[in-house]
Amino acid sequence: MFEKYISKTAKSRALYERAKKVLPTGVSYSIRYFEPYPFYTVKAKGSKLYDVDGNEYVDFWLGHTVLILGHSHPAIIKAVKEQLENGTHYGTSHELEIALAEQVRKMVPTAEMTRFANSGTEANMYATRLARAYTGRSKIAKFEGGWHGGYDALHVGVKHPFDLPESAGLTAGATQDTILLPFNDLEGVQKRLKNKEIASIIIEPVLGAGGGISAEKEFLNGLREYCNKKGILLIFDEVITGFRLAPGGAEQYFSVKADITVFGKILGGGFPVGAFCGRAEVMERLDTRMYERPHYAFHGGTFTGNPISMTAGLTTLKLLEDGNLINELNKIGQKIREQLRKVFEAKGVDVQTIGAGSLFSVQFTKEEVKDVTAVFRADKKKLLDYHLALIANGVFFLPTHTGALSTTHTKEDVEKLFAETEKYAKSL
Ligand SMILES: Cc1ncc(COP(=O)(O)O)c(C=O)c1O
Repeated sequence: MFEKYISKTAKSRALYERAKKVLPTGVSYSIRYFEPYPFYTVKAKGSKLYDVDGNEYVDFWLGHTVLILGHSHPAIIKAVKEQLENGTHYGTSHELEIALAEQVRKMVPTAEMTRFANSGTEANMYATRLARAYTGRSKIAKFEGGWHGGYDALHVGVKHPFDLPESAGLTAGATQDTILLPFNDLEGVQKRLKNKEIASIIIEPVLGAGGGISAEKEFLNGLREYCNKKGILLIFDEVITGFRLAPGGAEQYFSVKADITVFGKILGGGFPVGAFCGRAEVMERLDTRMYERPHYAFHGGTFTGNPISMTAGLTTLKLLEDGNLINELNKIGQKIREQLRKVFEAKGVDVQTIGAGSLFSVQFTKEEVKDVTAVFRADKKKLLDYHLALIANGVFFLPTHTGALSTTHTKEDVEKLFAETEKYAKSL
C-alpha cells in the first residue's frame, strides 16, 4: 500500500520534504500526519478532497468532522461573501452573535445562554473555570480516553497508559485536581469519586478521538442522577456530537440534560468557533454587572463572536434545525456500521464497528468496545493498514479518529467505501 500511495503522491512528497523544515512533523497538527507522509490538499468541494497530485478522495474526515454540509456549501459561501463585504472582524457587539446564541437556544433547550470562543479547547477551558467558579470547588473529573483539547487541566488520561503525562510541559499543579474516570462504568465512577468534592464531570457523549465509542444511555442517565445528588455540574463536551447526532445534539439523542454544554466544529459552519452554554443561573457567573472579583468567571478573546464564524454557523444551524438532514445521515451511518462489519466478518476478520448517528469507525478486535482500553487491545497495525489502503484508493479518514458523514456524500461515495473495504478484507 505504501508503494501505491507513494506512486500517486509525488508532489505531496515534495511538499512534505519542504514542510518538514518549517512545520514540526510537516503538519500544523500532529494528528494530520500519517505514514509515509500526508497528502497536501489544494481544493475541496462537497464530499471530495483533491490533492496536489490531482488525486480525488471521498472525505469522511470532513475537516475534523466539522463539515456536516460538505465542503463549501453554497448557502454558507453566500452568507460569508456577503459578510466579507461588511467587515471581517468588528471587535464590537453585533446582531449575528445574538442570532446565533438564539438559534442555539432554540435547538438546545438547556443552552439558555451562550458565550462564544474560538475553538473547542478554549470553550472547554472556560466551561471548566465556570464550573469551578459556580460550585466553589477545585477538583474536576473527566473520562479515560476523553479528548477535550489541549487545555492543561483536561489534557489528562487521553491515551493508554493513562498514568503517563499526555505531553511534556504539563505541570503537576495544572493536572493534580483532575480525577480520571472509567467510561461507561457508573460503579467505577462512584468508587473513584467517593468522599471527593467535585466541581464538574466532563464527558464526550461519543468519544471522538478515543475512536468513536458511544456512551450508553443508562450510563449517562446514571451520571446525571449522580451529579444531581452531589451538586456536581455535568458538562457535555459536544464539540463533535453537537448538531450532528440530533438538532439538539447528544442531549436530545440520549434524552439526558447537561448543566453546561460545549460546542465547536459544526457550530462555526467551517470557520473557527467554540461555545459554552448553560442555564442562565450558571452562565450569569460571567456577568460582570452581577459579579465582581473574585466571584465572577472570566471569559474573552479577540476573535470571539467574529461575524464570519457567526454567519457561517447560523446558516448551518438553520439548515439542520428541522432534523430531516440529520435523520437521513444517521440512517446512512447505521448502514455503514452494519455493512463494514458484514464485509469483514464474511472474510473471518475479528471486527467491531462503532459510533453513533453519522459517526462510524472500525476496530479490529473480537471484544465489545465499551471504552478505550478495548481500543488499546485491538489490532492497531491492521487499522493503520486498512486506512492506508483506503487512502491509496481514494477514501479518506483517519485511523485514530472517527469517520463522519455529510449531506453531500452520495450513494456512490458510500459504495466506494464498501468496495475498497471489501478489497482490503480480501487481501488479508
Ligand atoms: C470532543 C472534542 N472536544 C474538544 C476538542 C478541541 O477542539 P479544538 O480542536 O477546536 O480546540 C475536540 C477536537 O477535536 C473534540 O473532538
